[in-house]
Amino acid sequence: MNDQLENIFTVKDGELYIEGLKAAELAKDFGTPLFVYSETLIRSRFAEIRRDFTDKYPGAFAAYAGKAFLTPAMCRIVDEEGFYLDVVSAGELFTAKRAGFPAERISYHGNNKTYEELDTAIGGGAGDLKNGGAGRIVVDGLDELDIIESLAEKYGRQQAVLFRITPEVSAGAHAHVTTGKRDSKFGIPIDEHIIYPLIGKAIESPNIIFKGFHFHIGSQIFENAPYLEAAGKALAIIKEVRRRFMYTVPELVVGGGFGIRYSGDEERKPYSYFMDPIMEFVNNYCADNGLSLPCIGIEPGRSIVGDAGATLYTVGTVKQVPGGTKYVSIDGGMSDNIRPALYGAEYEAVIANKAGTVPLEKVTVCGKLCGSGDRIIEDIYVAEPKRGDILCVFATGAYGYSMASNYNKLPKPAVVLVKGDKANIIVRRQTLEAMTEDEI
Ligand code: LLP
Repeated sequence: MNDQLENIFTVKDGELYIEGLKAAELAKDFGTPLFVYSETLIRSRFAEIRRDFTDKYPGAFAAYAGKAFLTPAMCRIVDEEGFYLDVVSAGELFTAKRAGFPAERISYHGNNKTYEELDTAIGGGAGDLKNGGAGRIVVDGLDELDIIESLAEKYGRQQAVLFRITPEVSAGAHAHVTTGKRDSKFGIPIDEHIIYPLIGKAIESPNIIFKGFHFHIGSQIFENAPYLEAAGKALAIIKEVRRRFMYTVPELVVGGGFGIRYSGDEERKPYSYFMDPIMEFVNNYCADNGLSLPCIGIEPGRSIVGDAGATLYTVGTVKQVPGGTKYVSIDGGMSDNIRPALYGAEYEAVIANKAGTVPLEKVTVCGKLCGSGDRIIEDIYVAEPKRGDILCVFATGAYGYSMASNYNKLPKPAVVLVKGDKANIIVRRQTLEAMTEDEI
């Protein structure tokens, strides 16, 4: 565990605490599986970004990538912290709008936005917002600009857009989360016959405000070098845009993707590790090339909520295969955490009610879903696992609940937000009725 985490997840009298609350008590009060988030840690991440990036560098701005974990309570925190919010679907936009998140601070992303989604993003759906549903749209598809232009005209708006470019840089923990390589489904290829005509069109359109460029190279990244490489490509385009169109590009978003610690030797790096060199690089490039400095934006998701969230499960069957594996079965699994099966992600865990006992038994934590790949952790040491114990799996705050499914018709878990010695339920446990209500 690193930095503030040590003060959030603690052990007292043999019991795991999350902030001021006993994890086993939370499990008793709210049931399991249960996602528990530390509000203090989430807010401290926002504070770190303010201190080391947005307050430090003039014009710098930051968004929270909602795909990592988005509920109305999370929207309210993002809003209170003064951040932008990235959404990627009508559903995420709906969640944000219902929570009253200001439209002008919403960025709408996605490599295949439907016509209806663009209509909602630009027109505000039921017309509840005079400036539409999303302040910015990040153009990804080649035909998207034409649709945005016609919808903006229809609604009498000037829509701010950024172009997501494919920077041809590879980074990230797993092939499935690498998004910036040349042959990617994401972004507009850096091909002069493709990109400059589109930029020219955006600059000239009376219904479009061309804000600049965006890239996102991948996720769970621990090095700053690939960001610098991608920034170099984007800045070269910014320079060319000025030469061709006499246009000063006002913004460049360098994506999210900052890694967190899940297990082993991984170590979360502070935002300054990434942002200081990026800012220095951009400053130097602009000074050397006589360019005005664009406002630089970031959009992290995982590094804000990832290690602030943990999942509590109740242990059921414990099975020692003679001469083989000892399985500790939990009351959730790949339906609330698909990441081990999908990406080979590795986690750490502790038996919350035996957190003071030395973990001597090597086990595999498996879920209750039908699939042998439904293992949450392989070969982990735990303390005397028994039916009824509460197992806490750490760092499940990003892409856990947001990728949850109803496989095997398991209802989605509840989510609790903890601050000090207070716990608030922010998502109720899905009922069997709610889970099946759309089935005819
Ligand atoms: N911006 C864009 C355009 C993105 O596509 C993403 C993540 C982010 C920002 C936020 O990245 P973060 O800071 O959270 O790494 N399901 C995968 C992660 C997919 C990430 C997709 N894009 C996982 O569970 O690891």
